[in-house]
Amino acid sequence: MAEQIETLLKTGRIIEPTSQTKAQAHIQDYEKAYARSIEDPEQFWDGIAKELDWFSPWEKVLEWNYPWAKWFVGGTCNITYNCLDRHVQSWRKNKVAVIWVGEEGQERIFTYAELYRQVNKCANALKGLGLKQGDRVTIYLPKIPEQIVAMLACARIGLIHSVVYSGFSAPALESRIKDCGSRLVITADVGYDRGKSLNLKQVVDEAVARCPSVEHTIVVRREQPGVPLAQPKELDWETWVEGCSPVCEAEPLDAETPLYFLYTSGTTGKPKGVVHVHGGYMVGTYITSKYVFDLKDDDIYFCVADPGWVTGHSYIVYGPLLNGATILTAEGKPNYPTPGRWWELIARYSVSIFYTTPTAIRLLMKYGEEWPAKSDLSSLRILGSVGEPINPEAWEWFHRVAGGDKPIMDTWWQTETGMILVTPLPSVPLKPGSATRPFLGIEADVVDKEGNSVGTGGGFAVIKKPWPSMMRTIYKDPERYTTYWNTIPGCYTAGDVCHKDEDGYFWFMGRADDVVKVAGNRIGTAEVESALVSHDAVVEAAVIGKPHATAGEMIKAFVILKEGQTETSDMIKHLQAHVLQELGKIAVPKEIDIVTSLPKTRSGKIMRRVLKAKELGQDPGDISTLEE
Ligand code: PRX
Repeated sequence: MAEQIETLLKTGRIIEPTSQTKAQAHIQDYEKAYARSIEDPEQFWDGIAKELDWFSPWEKVLEWNYPWAKWFVGGTCNITYNCLDRHVQSWRKNKVAVIWVGEEGQERIFTYAELYRQVNKCANALKGLGLKQGDRVTIYLPKIPEQIVAMLACARIGLIHSVVYSGFSAPALESRIKDCGSRLVITADVGYDRGKSLNLKQVVDEAVARCPSVEHTIVVRREQPGVPLAQPKELDWETWVEGCSPVCEAEPLDAETPLYFLYTSGTTGKPKGVVHVHGGYMVGTYITSKYVFDLKDDDIYFCVADPGWVTGHSYIVYGPLLNGATILTAEGKPNYPTPGRWWELIARYSVSIFYTTPTAIRLLMKYGEEWPAKSDLSSLRILGSVGEPINPEAWEWFHRVAGGDKPIMDTWWQTETGMILVTPLPSVPLKPGSATRPFLGIEADVVDKEGNSVGTGGGFAVIKKPWPSMMRTIYKDPERYTTYWNTIPGCYTAGDVCHKDEDGYFWFMGRADDVVKVAGNRIGTAEVESALVSHDAVVEAAVIGKPHATAGEMIKAFVILKEGQTETSDMIKHLQAHVLQELGKIAVPKEIDIVTSLPKTRSGKIMRRVLKAKELGQDPGDISTLEE
């Protein structure tokens, strides 16, 4: 990757926007708009916030008490009022809000009016369970419309949702429920993966049995006959919402009221509950959706993410709905039933904006250009990529098969940032492999360890000023929050290594810390290590990320066995199965080496960097702290 970037930096292919793209873009002159936005960022954000509806105005745009931020201080709002009521009161009432397509091609369509009714009914059903503002609700659902409905219903009455990706296993779900003390879990009987059904209810049963805070479990029943439910604790979704009133006013909430917690991996074994709030998050996701994807009322916007991750929160649910967009969302994988799946959906629904991931693009590349060629992709106008660096080959392939003249928005951001921070806008000249420039109002830079700007060259990606949709804290762990702002003095450290070129373009090159990006999913090496060590046969484990042709990175583990345990090929399989059970499929190490020692510092910390260098045949750098 790094080598490819170097090569590209030298060749410097620049793709100018077509005159049509530029002419219709919300922001036609990025340089001018950016310069103006950072002259006075508070004024910029104030103006954007005023494009939305508030119950009462704010007294102050920003209260910045380093590193603690409050935005739109004193204002009251509700993000769902802007996602739903605003549109239902306009001509958009009967506009399609969500098109959902199941694995077998089945379709469910919700207009704004219908989504509004469903959300209100669900909100009333939540009230019926006695849930009150500030209570936590865990949503462990496959990618079905109820996931969107449940999120919005919680937000409508000030409940905090914690969506957990439905690929996580019972212990991983359990720890996420326990950390936030959810009173309710919403799940489904099954999810589908390539025609196979996955028993989600069983995972929830196992987790909830050890979570005393959970009073009820709601189950969306997709299969016949319906899975048995242990009433009154377990309720069927349909019966639960049936008969509830379709009217439920959005609760006016202080702008800083938590909207959701989303657990993400860091450098310790424990996932962190990133906290986002109604006001600032609403403003940030609204304007980035509008400007980056150039959203217009006649667009059909297709984002392939799962609401289990932040991309689904910000760019399937909140951002697009805030803009009154029509969203296409599809359950299942890009290559099932055929590798033509997504291209066919684009043709079938005349998708104009398509937001996907580098891993998916690399996977589809393997099947060849004949698959996209079979579908009419002429409706496309904007493409997007997120989650990991996109290598120039994948960028060029995606660009070519989509028609050769549709700009790719390589959007860089994080769970913690809530919104896209470094990204092209459609009118910005592109360089394949670069996320280009900071979004309006965002002061991003590349610095050395001391925080000095490198000007041109490599270093750490940082953000120099607060922005509205930044996380407010880590739930129950404020210290962990402050480390983001303390690691490099005076700025928010993203944890990414980045190269800034002479045009000020950002080239993100991967994580600087012990976080691995497998198919864009964020996995902490410490989490996998602790899962491995929890196996009876293991005494110690070290985990690294290793480049992988499709997934970007893969997990490799080095394991020391307890005395008396012998290395057999079965042992590796056992250990993989154990991680599957503890964390879920996405965290299973593809390779496991049984070793007798691990490189450590004199204080006993495993030097993963040394392992990685050895594995990749690279120079391990400074090893003066290495004990042996
Ligand atoms: O390393 C960066 C990578 O994903 C990390 C954030 O992961 P997560 O919180 O799971 O959010 C993913 C979806 C926003 C970042 O620290 N990353 C994300 N987008 C890009 C990226 N790396 C390079 N280019 C991107 N466009």
